[in-house]
Amino acid sequence: MDEAQEDMDKGMIIFEDIGELTAFAARLFACLCAIEIERKGFFTAVLSGGSTPKRFFKKLASPEFQDRVCWEKVHLFWGDERNVPPDDKDSNFGLAARELLARVPVPLENIHRMQVDLGPVKAAKEYEAEIKAFFVSRGTSAPRFDLVFLGLGTDGHTLSLFPGSKAVSEEKRLIVENYVKTLSSWRVTMTPAIVNNAKTCVFMASGEEKMDAVKEAVEGNLKALPAGLIRPSDGRLLWLVDKGAASALKQSMG
Ligand code: 6PG
Repeated sequence: MDEAQEDMDKGMIIFEDIGELTAFAARLFACLCAIEIERKGFFTAVLSGGSTPKRFFKKLASPEFQDRVCWEKVHLFWGDERNVPPDDKDSNFGLAARELLARVPVPLENIHRMQVDLGPVKAAKEYEAEIKAFFVSRGTSAPRFDLVFLGLGTDGHTLSLFPGSKAVSEEKRLIVENYVKTLSSWRVTMTPAIVNNAKTCVFMASGEEKMDAVKEAVEGNLKALPAGLIRPSDGRLLWLVDKGAASALKQSMG
């Protein structure tokens, strides 16, 4: 791969910058989407939150991908959500709505938003029920997403699985409400149980501020970080990082 240095034994691709990283992520989305639609007639993707995905959403909504993706057969879900209204500047759904959904023809009924306006506890229960019903109606008892995108916090959190929070040790429920002490706020999040049943999980991490978390997550004691809980049981895990986020790795790789 000319524009990136492959380190596939760690399931990692290191890109020059966030632009190349997100262009690759968009191509991966389009490619897996085509394969799954050909195979079963629809495609399920879980979108991540935070700021990293913004460039990815813009790329996916660009003319280059508009007609490369069969949007009417795409179902979009969210890995986690903040306890804010959907049009709030901090809403993970809101970011995708502005940068992607406003520009591509995904049918309204295919947009599966976490209804945090119901309150975190009810929203978690309803979302788990919605996801289970979605997959049962398509002949799959255990929810198995085709593609899950994940971000990485500088503290090693992913989704809204923050270090020391209750959700990190949840082993049964698929979607939970989670109080995050460091943020003094509630979140709603997917748990490792549902994410680890996915076919493909993709971390996107950019910037030097992530380098220690990437190093720990890839080389260190995985169990120390919530991100280390993401280990697909019957699927692939891929790290897409730019040079900044990989710079600690590069030091140790000599
Ligand atoms: C959230 C996210 C979270 C995010 C990481 C990285 O709601 O905050 O889901 O897990 O992906 O914090 O965020 P950045 O991309 O902004 O660094």
